[in-house]
Amino acid sequence: MKIIRSPKQMQGISKEIKDKGKTIGFVPTMGALHQGHLSLIRRARQDTDVVVVSIFVNPTQFGPQEDFQRYPRPFRKDISLCRSLGVDYIFHPLASWMYPEGFKTYVLVEDLSEVLCGRFRPGHFRGVTTVVAKLFNIVRPDIAYFGQKDAQQAIIIKRMVCDLNFPLKIKVMPIIREEDGLALSSRNIYLSPQERNDACVLSEALRLAQGLVKSGIKDTKKIICHMRALIKKKKSAKIDYIAIVDPKTLKPVKKISGRCLLALAVWIGKTRLIDNLCLKG
Ligand code: PAF
Repeated sequence: MKIIRSPKQMQGISKEIKDKGKTIGFVPTMGALHQGHLSLIRRARQDTDVVVVSIFVNPTQFGPQEDFQRYPRPFRKDISLCRSLGVDYIFHPLASWMYPEGFKTYVLVEDLSEVLCGRFRPGHFRGVTTVVAKLFNIVRPDIAYFGQKDAQQAIIIKRMVCDLNFPLKIKVMPIIREEDGLALSSRNIYLSPQERNDACVLSEALRLAQGLVKSGIKDTKKIICHMRALIKKKKSAKIDYIAIVDPKTLKPVKKISGRCLLALAVWIGKTRLIDNLCLKG
């Protein structure tokens, strides 16, 4: 396994791989790898000839008051996890190489970037799509892997790939959860033991909604109301949003019919957590 720091060198390596007719599987990450990331890497290993993982804490997707500085960076541990899974290349650029002086070009997926998490994290998805577009141009993957945990991100990236004719496939892999239901996230380590307990309320609320739908309740307002009541029981919880939306347009739906995305973002103390579920009417 090789660690590549320069975008130009990575681009050269990717070109050589493609010239040999081999396929590249790419897992973009910000490091602090957990089982969720590892499931993407394993899948890339199965599907493609050469596996590239990027580890880059992308400054442009963090707001000024957000956790860019304290975001976990256990690089040595990440390297050994990647090695143990047979990753071929880790791309780990410096921020000043990704965004050199004079950098002026951003990629924005309109509308989809402004709702749900985008409403509470202005500029976040512009940062994500910009860095992912750059990474796609550098790594030139055949398949790129994302987690369903960041459902909105995956939907936005699929839209970008289609709109900008990136010649690659996006695979979205299922959420990996702890035994008690908490979705894995690099940010879970911020939680105190009490908050860690309270954090289960996100997945409990999703299961509650699923139960309500199964019992015949289709009115999304009613479902969200029940979820709010459950979450509010936890002192440490503060809801940013709970939404039931069309999984392509991210527009709110009134009645559950067909496939809908139920997504929520909740602060547990000072940690903002997200989770989601596909509801079928
Ligand atoms: O999901 C993430 O870890 C990041 O948003 C990504 C896709 C690596 C872009 O920085």
